Amino acid sequence: MNAPEIKTALPGPNAKAIIERDAKFVSPSYTRDYPFVIARGEGAVVEDVDGNRFIDCAAGIAVNSTGVSHPDVVRAIVDQAQKFVHMSGTDFYYEPQVRLAEELASIAPIGGDVRTFFGNSGTEAIEAAVKLSRYYTKRQGIIAFLGSFHGRTMGSLALTSSKAVQRRGFGPMMPGVYHAPYPDPYRFKGGADESAAASLSFITDQILTHLISPDEVAAIVVEPIQGEGGYVVPPRGFLQALRELTATHGMMLVVDEVQSGMGRTGKMFASDHFALKADIVTIAKGIASGLPLGVTCSRADVMSWPPGAHASTFGGNPVSCAAANATIKLLKEHLVANAATVGEHLMWGIRTLQQKYPVIGDVRGMGLMIGIEFVRDRQTKERAVDERNALVQAMFRRGVLVLGAGKNAVRLAPPLVLTKDQADAVLRVMDEALAEITALKPRSSR
Ligand SMILES: Cc1ncc(COP(=O)(O)O)c(C=O)c1O
Repeated sequence: MNAPEIKTALPGPNAKAIIERDAKFVSPSYTRDYPFVIARGEGAVVEDVDGNRFIDCAAGIAVNSTGVSHPDVVRAIVDQAQKFVHMSGTDFYYEPQVRLAEELASIAPIGGDVRTFFGNSGTEAIEAAVKLSRYYTKRQGIIAFLGSFHGRTMGSLALTSSKAVQRRGFGPMMPGVYHAPYPDPYRFKGGADESAAASLSFITDQILTHLISPDEVAAIVVEPIQGEGGYVVPPRGFLQALRELTATHGMMLVVDEVQSGMGRTGKMFASDHFALKADIVTIAKGIASGLPLGVTCSRADVMSWPPGAHASTFGGNPVSCAAANATIKLLKEHLVANAATVGEHLMWGIRTLQQKYPVIGDVRGMGLMIGIEFVRDRQTKERAVDERNALVQAMFRRGVLVLGAGKNAVRLAPPLVLTKDQADAVLRVMDEALAEITALKPRSSR
């Protein structure tokens, strides 16, 4: 499928009709930034119900790791669905779930033997991680980071602190959660290493000194790259420092790889870039190419809870497990490598655009997890929120789907099948869209 190819005004008539129906009957809590209504897709291209084609740099929020309906994944889904759709791994056994647990034991960024708990989503993976940390350590406290996103159910929501609207009206939150600043090398006044030092010092000199004793903290929960919060990559030593801190005090280190995992960063997990071994790792989104699945992998000795302690009726659905097994095979064969090479190409192209457009303050990320932060002024770093929002719209009108992240960043999280040619097309569209939103001819950077 060729893209971009825009044939109608957006939204076209068919999209408009569906959106009107949606507006009456579907929860208004969803954030739809632009009126895209999918009809079908192939690889990294999606077609709307009016025949307009887009390059998809959103991938259903970093989920369609193998692209839209990859034939191998569809075959695995159909094969499994024809045998049985559900049997509940809580009460019975089935081979696809065991196979997936074996596979995860070999790839999860955890040292030693690994066991896996199966849920349906990222938030459930976090709930399981919090419960397991509390159960194993017999402690209650949880330390998370400002700007983080870990889900929206009542446990994970207490950790989530990305946008106030996500918490507003839902209190009181689960008690026992403390937040530290996430190190932001671009925004911190003083440099990357200092941002990490400040964050660590907040944990040790503020939280663990004034608020809760280290021996009451069950876990530190961290995204190895902050996703929703703006695709912020922490400085190199930060995650290892958390590893040491948690080991010293007998806390669990829970690494949330829900968005950054499954090949997105050009390695199987973002943790792999930092040689990080966690006690517990949460994975969802890209693991099953779009079927609902969230898993909590843990050191085998930590996952010591007894039968009945935690389970989910649908968790680890056989069809989702079959999709995940097919997905992991494709990732290992070539898609993790493709994410690394095409990601590097895309990142280079965006950095070139950064030379041209002062509104691009920062370009960061790994593999095909790329964040672009927009500023009004490179010295003051005033957040260019309207410009970011305008860019998202301008790219949509030209046939590229992107999502915002944080207050003033755009995230690129395309399927890992994105080709170099498609990356070049994304760059061309971004160039045009930037020229439009900055309302000026491209000029040299200051
Ligand atoms: C890092 C991270 N953790 C957890 C979640 C929650 O996942 P879900 O929406 O599947 O519940 C998300 C979702 O964006 C995420 O990015």
